[in-house]
Amino acid sequence: MSVTERAKVLDGTDDDDLSDRYRDERDWVAGRIELIRGLPHVETPLIEVPLPAKLDGLRLCVKNESVHPSGSHKHRLAEALFTNALASGWLRSEGPVVEASSGSTAISEAWFCQQLGLAFAAVVPSGTAKEKKDAIRDLNGNVVEAPPGADLCEHARQYALKVGGHFMDQFTYAERAYDWHGEHGLAPELLGAVDPDWFVMGAGTGGTVTSVGRYARNTGRKVRVCVTDPENSAFFAGWRDDNPKATDKGSRIEGIGRPRVEPSFLFPMVNRMIRVYDAASVAAMRVAADHLGFRPGPSTGTGLFGALRILHGMQDRGERGTVATLMCDDGSRYNNEYYNNDWCAAHGIDFEPWLDPITEFFQTGDWRPPTTFDTAPRPSDTLWNM
Ligand SMILES: Cc1ncc(COP(=O)(O)O)c(C=O)c1O
Repeated sequence: MSVTERAKVLDGTDDDDLSDRYRDERDWVAGRIELIRGLPHVETPLIEVPLPAKLDGLRLCVKNESVHPSGSHKHRLAEALFTNALASGWLRSEGPVVEASSGSTAISEAWFCQQLGLAFAAVVPSGTAKEKKDAIRDLNGNVVEAPPGADLCEHARQYALKVGGHFMDQFTYAERAYDWHGEHGLAPELLGAVDPDWFVMGAGTGGTVTSVGRYARNTGRKVRVCVTDPENSAFFAGWRDDNPKATDKGSRIEGIGRPRVEPSFLFPMVNRMIRVYDAASVAAMRVAADHLGFRPGPSTGTGLFGALRILHGMQDRGERGTVATLMCDDGSRYNNEYYNNDWCAAHGIDFEPWLDPITEFFQTGDWRPPTTFDTAPRPSDTLWNM
């Protein structure tokens, strides 16, 4: 509400102090921040994946972020975004909060809005699956479908303006909202429990890998960051060519890979990138479910495949050390998609040829990728590879 509008509202009341340009709900803000601080902090468990004798001296650890109350590592991002927005004076008691997301971020932000007593609206791409919209609605979130072909973030920004809400804008604010100097984030938890040589995961906003990269530099840790990027994502070419304007079609792996290089994806935080076939991501996800004792979503499969490539490269060079990745969310969110063979076939994701090679690697340490795909360069010969 502008000063002039407020003058009209206050006309005839005793309160004639209009000196504040922005209404300042200091007590409400303090109360919400206290509420966030009081929420139980979940220290997520590490899964140690048993590796075969051939990979002796190497370790693979998967931090299980699916146990957060809102089901994914986006719980941490949502907490950071709300704290940042409250402390920045952007959130109002009347809300609503608006976000561009149909996936984990929307679910986590809806969860926090429920805790904070705020209204929430997720702006989702047209044609978003009913299960996803239901998951947001189950947390009292509103679902606004953007028209086909619309720029989702721009649509969300305009929608927030129209309803007088706040566009949270995860793609811009993820990197700066994350508390990377503190001792309670993902990075301190992970680096406190293991001392990885590599942290591997895909990027959606890029906020999570950035928080690890910054924490590592700030505390003098050795860990290097590898981003695994799915097909049709702009991050890989953007990083390789140092071109923040790179674009692509956009990924089929839920949550990661973007049609443009998002503002929260900071090139210097990334030591290495690995392009991963979608079929290999889905196969790695399914191998985890069938043989490794955890049943994740597809973005975890992309990270797991990258972890395999890094382990293979380390073994090739006779190195010892630890590779860490995340279980971003649980596979139950994807039963009707990536875990459904008909859905995969309809989307042209032929994961079958990758199942045996990935399973074999985790059982024997031998790596024999399917010949039907382009053969991968030796990891020790290149900084990036499929
Ligand atoms: C399931 C899933 N995995 C991975 C990511 C990537 O995380 P970040 O946004 O921190 O790059 C996302 C982001 O939306 C996601 O939803």
